[in-house]
Amino acid sequence: MISFEGYDTVIKKVYQSGNEHVFTFWDDLTIEQKKHLLQELSLINFDEINELYALTKKHIIPMNFEPAPFTRLPQTPEEHKAFEYAKQVGIDTIKKGKVASFVVAGGQGSRLGFDGPKGIFPIGPVSNKTLFQIHAEKIKAYEKKFGIDIPWCIMTSESNHQATVDYFEKHNFFTLNKDKVFIFKQNMIPSLDEQGKLILETPYSIFRNPDGHGGSLTALYTSGTLNKLLTMGIEVLSYFQVDNPLVRIIDPVFIGFHVKHNAEVSSKALQKAYPEEKIGVFVKFSNGRIGVVEYSDLPQEKQYEKDEQGNLRYGAGSIAIHLFNTHFIEKIAQGNISLPFHVAKKSIPQYTNNGKVTITGYKFEKFVFDALPLTEHNFILETKREEEFAPVKNKSGVDSVDTAQELMINLYKKWLLQKNIPVPKVVEKIEISPLYAVEPDDLPDSIAIPQQKEVYLA
Ligand code: UTP
Repeated sequence: MISFEGYDTVIKKVYQSGNEHVFTFWDDLTIEQKKHLLQELSLINFDEINELYALTKKHIIPMNFEPAPFTRLPQTPEEHKAFEYAKQVGIDTIKKGKVASFVVAGGQGSRLGFDGPKGIFPIGPVSNKTLFQIHAEKIKAYEKKFGIDIPWCIMTSESNHQATVDYFEKHNFFTLNKDKVFIFKQNMIPSLDEQGKLILETPYSIFRNPDGHGGSLTALYTSGTLNKLLTMGIEVLSYFQVDNPLVRIIDPVFIGFHVKHNAEVSSKALQKAYPEEKIGVFVKFSNGRIGVVEYSDLPQEKQYEKDEQGNLRYGAGSIAIHLFNTHFIEKIAQGNISLPFHVAKKSIPQYTNNGKVTITGYKFEKFVFDALPLTEHNFILETKREEEFAPVKNKSGVDSVDTAQELMINLYKKWLLQKNIPVPKVVEKIEISPLYAVEPDDLPDSIAIPQQKEVYLA
């Protein structure tokens, strides 16, 4: 057994758990590297590791469920009236300074294969603006519209935190009030190999992954950000993912319904495009609680089941847009209520005697929608896919940079069309800066769109 002053207990735990292979390169390490490795190991909860590995052996079958009720897009005059009323309540809530925005940007973006935080990926089809810049400019535009500062929480993780902070500093926080932009890190959790053992990433560090977007509720609390929000009187946190450039970050109608329903969590839903679409669906469990069942956990017969109108019975898909009541987050975090971990089999880099190799192992992540069944009051609002959802997940093909840019262009064209502003045929790409119009209503009544292939309205 190796020894190092002050670390006897952790060394013993490593051996007892059968993970002594993490000391394979011990004799070649410098004192600093030895300390680094032992410090990392001292943060690992070996009991938790065993529990996580046990998860890989059992398939968690969701409880019995039926489709969750949701509020559909308005069709009747009464529904239009209810939406209009919700909008007024929402505007009032925003103007009172009770709303902040929250982006989760701690993911590793492995499918996109981009070197750096996903938020600095250039997505503007004409402007080439990054995801972060587009989100920042939307917030800036809402601030102007509602005449109030809208705090912005940004969750990062160990590997992209500094690069994210540097990026915002370099760009002067896109002129947002930097005292109200809170950038904080989420937790990391060790990944395991197929035998349930720790994985060396370098001779003196353990491979870990961020603990999933579900780690965000705990991270808000432990980072002290939640406390700052509560002190500022923030009651509603508008949650979104960094890789959706179409997200409506501050939506008065959504916020108004959330407030009216006294909801702890509200969510946006859209109709699944086809049964196999890889998004989770909203359900009501047999205990009456609302939740999301991941596409991979939805039994096949339910995936294809139709209702009397011929629509998918489990058709209300989750697009990871939520509103969280800040007191609810506090209750969860203070009560030490941990969301469950989910297992994913993934490629993981491992350091071996032959240098770096790629192995198949397990990553463990929490999902933020697992907070839903913990709520007593919640609300689900239907939205239009083409107006709010353009995920940038892959380099090409489905949910890629190309599809997201096409969706952005189509939406901007639709806005102009709604205003009877003709787009010349020669225009192939058009983009509207959020600072020019963050909603179609912000567009002027007439604009002469230039006769050129690429147009940027800014
Ligand atoms: P995804 O599950 O799509 O993961 O994250 P990803 O890391 O972006 O991409 P892949 O799967 O490695 O290709 C959805 C959203 O949740 C955030 C991501 O940054 C993204 O905004 N996220 C994900 C976190 O903030 N932390 C995590 O641990 C995981």
